[in-house]
Amino acid sequence: MDRPETVSDLTGALRAGGYIADRGLATALYVAIRMHRPVLLEGEVGVGKTEVAKVLAAIYGRTLIRLQCYEGIDVNQALYEWDYARQMLHIRALSEHQVADPDSVDKLFGPKFLLERPLLAAVRAGEQAVLLVDEIDRADDEFEAFLLEVLSDFQISIPEVGTIKADSPPLVVLTSNRTRELHDALKRRCLYHWIGYPPADREVEIVLLKEPGVGMALTRKVVAAVNRLRELDLEKPPGVAETIDWARTLHFLGEKDLNPDVANDTLGAVVKERDDLELVRENLADVTAAGA
Ligand SMILES: Nc1ncnc2c1ncn2[C@@H]1O[C@H](COP(=O)(O)OP(=O)(O)OP(=O)(O)O)[C@@H](O)[C@H]1O
Ligand SMILES: [Mg+2]
Repeated sequence: MDRPETVSDLTGALRAGGYIADRGLATALYVAIRMHRPVLLEGEVGVGKTEVAKVLAAIYGRTLIRLQCYEGIDVNQALYEWDYARQMLHIRALSEHQVADPDSVDKLFGPKFLLERPLLAAVRAGEQAVLLVDEIDRADDEFEAFLLEVLSDFQISIPEVGTIKADSPPLVVLTSNRTRELHDALKRRCLYHWIGYPPADREVEIVLLKEPGVGMALTRKVVAAVNRLRELDLEKPPGVAETIDWARTLHFLGEKDLNPDVANDTLGAVVKERDDLELVRENLADVTAAGA
């Protein structure tokens, strides 16, 4: 099957692919797939925004095409570039052979010398792809405006080659950590879903799905401790990724329980800022008492 028939279909397929989605997220994704709408996922760090796009691609047998955004990313890096090096070599070969054929000059700007970047690849692949535009908030305003244009008609014009249009649009998943506000125009094009920290029960489920060996009792304690950590005023509160990591680390070390000593020795799996470490160490008894 290459697309879900119902929201619960999708929820089941995601779970089988190793991802646990709540009803809200599954509904947003279902509508995105079935109505060909881009979906914008915002949320805390490490709550599964990027992962869900990867799992979607895997379960529906689509190619994952990832456009990782960063400060200063420009159109060339996202769309296409001409392969200058190969063009130069070609020109040299032409001149050595004294070829003056005007066609061979035209060929310099043909498909052979075109380097496909993620957006062009996604337009070409159409429905066969999931386009992940990751961390769009890191790109600047102009890039966002350009992206909006591509998302509105999935059509790319290359002056030397012509217009390339997707027969059917790819599934587009955009993620943002909200380091800046995105423009209304972009949001208007997209379905929006906020992914917060999961409730404890679901986080336990996620950990057990990823690390079945850890065991229910220890997983519960880890999740409770992480939830306490999220209530402290940390610079980098732990995401689900850290919860999994901490549980995995404890399991690897053969620990069966989470007491202050054990927690202290393994904090590096879950707290990644020096100032945060100090604050957490002061509160270790309290943190590990949670869920006891
Ligand atoms: N609901 C979930 N189901 C299964 N795994 C999850 C879920 N949420 C998070 N994870 C796990 O947490 C890890 C981090 O997820 P991911 O990288 O997608 O987070 P993110 O929201 O993109 O974070 P960042 O903001 O740092 O990019 C992944 O390895 C994933 O396996
Ligand atoms: Mg991410």
